[in-house]
Parts: sequence; structure tokens; C-alpha cells
Amino acid sequence: MRRAMAVVAAVVLLAGTGCQESETVKVGVVAPLTGDVMTFGESMRNGALMAFEEANAAGGVGGRLLQVMVRDDANEPGRAAEAGRELVEQEAVVAVLGSVSTECTLPLADICQAAGVPLVVPASTNPKVTVAPDGARRVCVFRACFTDSFQGAVAAKFARGALDARTAAVLFNSSDEYSRGLAGFFRDAFVAAGGQVPVFESYAAGEEDFRAQLEFARVQAADVLFLPDYYSRVARVVRQARELGLRTTLLGGDGWDSPEMPEQAGDAILGGYFTNHFSPDEPRPEVKEWVNRYKSKYGEPPDALATLGHDAALLLVEALRRAPQSKPAEVCVALAATSDFQGVSGAISFDEHGNAVKNVVIAQYRADGVRFVTTERP
Ligand code: PHE
Repeated sequence: MRRAMAVVAAVVLLAGTGCQESETVKVGVVAPLTGDVMTFGESMRNGALMAFEEANAAGGVGGRLLQVMVRDDANEPGRAAEAGRELVEQEAVVAVLGSVSTECTLPLADICQAAGVPLVVPASTNPKVTVAPDGARRVCVFRACFTDSFQGAVAAKFARGALDARTAAVLFNSSDEYSRGLAGFFRDAFVAAGGQVPVFESYAAGEEDFRAQLEFARVQAADVLFLPDYYSRVARVVRQARELGLRTTLLGGDGWDSPEMPEQAGDAILGGYFTNHFSPDEPRPEVKEWVNRYKSKYGEPPDALATLGHDAALLLVEALRRAPQSKPAEVCVALAATSDFQGVSGAISFDEHGNAVKNVVIAQYRADGVRFVTTERP
């Protein structure tokens, strides 16, 4: 595992010496730095820290430096809740950034909302993140990315249009809110666009053998196989699919984006398309500049999570600069007033649900790496 070296439990960013805690602005970051999606957490943390470091190098916010406290949730909701409570109650942070998976961000959103502390969500895409179970908007929660209703619709449109698919098989993780949600959004949009979904099968967390569901998909001979899950499990699924002789075009969502995917899935993932937030070879000048800057610091190109972590952190810094007392409530108000913030992953303004409305990128795993295919606008 070539990225294992980068696990850091807590990072304090205080440029210069002699800086008292009372003179700093405390910000928490919660991310999966260990566990099954650890490349997500490492990338998100790396991108966010770059933004916070840049802010401190430019004098911090309102004359005070940022003190950033990073916590690992290991992609476990209980650990995310624990980290959130610790940051909010004991550390009294003014804002939290995180987490990555929807499952971990949901408890974090509850805790931040109850405490009135703003939560900036870089990458969790399920609609429920900004809306409480009773339908009320979580007014302290802001999301720097698109939601799965749009992501699923773009994947369905791409399958029906560019791939000319008439039938789709969907295989998803029934224990995971992100996977379940994206599976449903894709199916609904695919059917609404005149397609058919003869296979809508699931597996539960911990399941390792997907052959029965894949065999069903094989005999149905669907034109595409949609796999809305995270890279480690998708890698196992596609290996088994290829072993069974399934040659269907593969399609997935943002959970596919990891430098570990080609290593874990091997050739089985080649040709697979996925929707994403960003691609390092998008033809936009700000992307080129960001890719070079990130590469010179970390030695590899940024993925979507590094980019979203950076954009979300910068967006928070900008709001902190418009909140002179750095009180959580004031930061919430400043965040809500964000308008046309220019992130590398796209411009960010929040809709009435606190969600950014942004483009979806479609990319493909090829033998020479991940290649940008196209961009879909909202
Ligand atoms: N969108 C995923 C979720 O909500 C998290 C994710 C974002 C994964 C970006 C990879 C890249 O759970």
C-alpha cells in the first residue's frame, strides 16, 4: 500500500513561534485516514491542509492563525460522531470540515447542527446530508459538491446517450446510504429516459462473494453494469465479474476515484466510466495551475477528494474572513452568504438546501490512467 505513509492523527498549523492558543482560530477536520477508503481521507486532508497553510502564510483570518485539528473516522459512523463531539465540545472549534462518506457525515451533521457549529462538507453527495430526517434544512451544514440525484441522472443520461445502452444492471451496497441512494437515482433516471433496469440487486456490508448477483446480471445481458460503491469493494466486484465472463461496459460514481483502484482491480476495471467532481486533465487553466501546485507538494496529481478538500477549506477560510469575531453562528451566516466562490472544482454558491450546484465530470479508467471524457452541466 504505497500511500500508507501519510497517516497523521492531528496536525497543528501555527506558523511562527510564541503563538498562544487563545490567539488562534480552531478548525476541525474529520476524514477517513485509515480503513477501507483511506485514500479518500488522505487526499481530502492533504488538499484541505494546503488551503489552511496558504491562509496562515497570508496572515491567517482576522489577524489570527488557524489551528487545524485533524481526526480519523476510519469510515465508521460511530468514530465520526465521537470525533465530532470531541471537536465541538472539548476543543470548541469554530467550524468543522468533513467527512467523506455520507454514512460518516450524517452523524457529524447532526452533532454540528445541534451545537450550532458550521459544518462544511467537501464530498458527501447523498441529499440527506443537508436535510434532517424530519425534512428540516440543517442550516449549519453546507456542501461544496453536487448531490447524488444529479450525479445519478448524469450517469443514466451518459449510459442512454453516449453508450447507447437500452438495459442496465445495478448492483449496490444495501448497508450504505450513499450506495443505496445513488443506485435508486440512477435507476429512476435511466427508466425515465426510456431504458430498462432488469437487474437491481444488492449485497450487504461484509459480503465478499458477489457471484450470484453477477451471474444474474450476466444472463440478463444488460448493456451496462452500474456499480455505485467505493473503490475497494468495486475492485472486488469487477474482478469476480470478469472471472464469470461478464464483459458488460462498467459504470460507476465518484466512489471509484482512487489511485488504489487500478492496483486493486487490475485489468478488470479498464474501460469503466465513472462520474466525478474533477479530473486533473480537464482543459481549464485553473486546473492546470492547481495540478502543478499539488504535484510539487505531494508528488502525485490531485484526485477529486484532494481538490474538494482544498476548495471546501478555502471556502471556509473566506467565510471566516467575513466573520470578524469567529463565532460559530457568525461563520454560519457568512457561509450562507457565499456567492460564486471560484473553486478549482467549479464555482460554488449554495441553493436553498445548502448544496452547491456544480458540473459533473465523466472519466474513464484506461491502461494509461484515468482519462477525462466529458463534462455535464446542471
Ligand atoms: N460521494 C461519496 C459519499 O457521499 C464520497 C466520495 C466523494 C467518494 C468523492 C469519492 C470521491 O459517500
